[in-house]
Amino acid sequence: MEMAVIGTGYVGLVSGVCFAEAGNTVVCVDRDETKIALLQRAKSPIFEPGIEAYMARNMEAGRLAFTSDVAAAVRGSDMIVIAVGTPSLSNGEADLRFIREVAEAVGQAMNGRKIVAVKSTVPVGTNETVRRIIAEQTDEPFDVVSIPEFLREGSAIQDTLHPDRIVIGLDNRELEPTLVGLHRAFTDRIYVTDVRSAEMIKYASNAFLATKISFINEISNICEKVGADVTQVAAGMGMDTRIGPSFLNAGIGYGGSCFPKDTKALIQLAGNVDYEFKLLKSVVEVNADQRYKIIAKLEQALGHVQNAVIGIWGLSFKANTDDIRDSPAFDIAQTLLRRGARLKLYDPVAMEKMKEKLDHPFIQWCESAMEAAASADAVCLLTDWQEFKDVDLRLLIYVMNQPIVVDGRNIFAAEQVAMANVRYYAVGRPNLQASDRAEAPAV
Ligand code: UDX
Repeated sequence: MEMAVIGTGYVGLVSGVCFAEAGNTVVCVDRDETKIALLQRAKSPIFEPGIEAYMARNMEAGRLAFTSDVAAAVRGSDMIVIAVGTPSLSNGEADLRFIREVAEAVGQAMNGRKIVAVKSTVPVGTNETVRRIIAEQTDEPFDVVSIPEFLREGSAIQDTLHPDRIVIGLDNRELEPTLVGLHRAFTDRIYVTDVRSAEMIKYASNAFLATKISFINEISNICEKVGADVTQVAAGMGMDTRIGPSFLNAGIGYGGSCFPKDTKALIQLAGNVDYEFKLLKSVVEVNADQRYKIIAKLEQALGHVQNAVIGIWGLSFKANTDDIRDSPAFDIAQTLLRRGARLKLYDPVAMEKMKEKLDHPFIQWCESAMEAAASADAVCLLTDWQEFKDVDLRLLIYVMNQPIVVDGRNIFAAEQVAMANVRYYAVGRPNLQASDRAEAPAV
């Protein structure tokens, strides 16, 4: 197909690249000309493993191009994919401003029958709004379909090329063969439904995953009080195929650009039709508290954090991304600074973005995990980067002021910790103190 993908954020750029990879001719559109200039040189404005190689290959093959000219892109395409952002309004509701602007621009440029697919996460009923706005601008025939996106940052290309399922919401059943054919390159697990249900599937899926995370975080809080180990509990629970092992990692709670925004939008959407989504409200509340529990652990380990030197490992909201949107690390760092701690911050890729948001005389930006640990009274791990998993904990006793590790992601095994001679505090697991130490081997 000849396709235009509007919006070059995570969803738009990755979808465009993957549609090109599947053999379609794709032009990705963004009104930000600086971004387009970068993309035209096969440089990605987002950090996503592997994406530039895919971009370069498809650009060379003539299947992928970038432009800031929406009208030209729409005119040259049979299918237009809308993938612009839907940020939160102050009441939690999704802000549809960009969707409306794009719908208007698409309507104005229509020159023949086209399919308009909405990939942005939008409240139920938005596709009908898009249809109305386009119809106000043109007499040309067109269809609006909902094809929500389920990719995760950090594994976005693989998630898109090999998805668990694709959901297609359409009201005109005649489009089914075309759209199923287009997506069969990725998977046979294609679920065709009506537009409103497709819009709801996206919100319900994200809300359910967020619920799993808050559930296991609450279990972890109880585990701490009764002396159980949440990693073992989650492993045992996950063996039940009705539960499944994924999204049962206790930690500092979810962050990022989707779960926080989409859970609040669904609560608001329910409220708009007089339904109080009590369960999801609790999920959000639990998540808001969870990130601060790590501070209590630091205080438990150190007595108080005032004037303590704390090395922070990880700033992005999860591993393999430089995204710091709603990253728990930001709130944790800010709270520690307010309480008088001195922070040594390190992240493999998210440092520049965090420097733009966080500025304080008590912050030292470091070049490596070991530099952040040097002379620190405690190290606090906030992002589960492989680089941190690979750290030889046994070195910490030589560089830290006192070897205390507070692990917000439960990435270290008890044996590893025991060998390293450190005091270890994790989430929902028993603390390991000096008395639990094995004899430290010479390093
Ligand atoms: C999520 C959805 O997974 C994806 O389908 C949707 O399209 C966009 O939102 P993403 O935000 O990229 O993707 O990250 P994800 O890997 O889902 O993690 C979200 C947050 O939950 C992160 O902060 C992560 O650290 C946290 N998380 C995840 C946990 O705390 N525990 C877990 O077991 C899993």
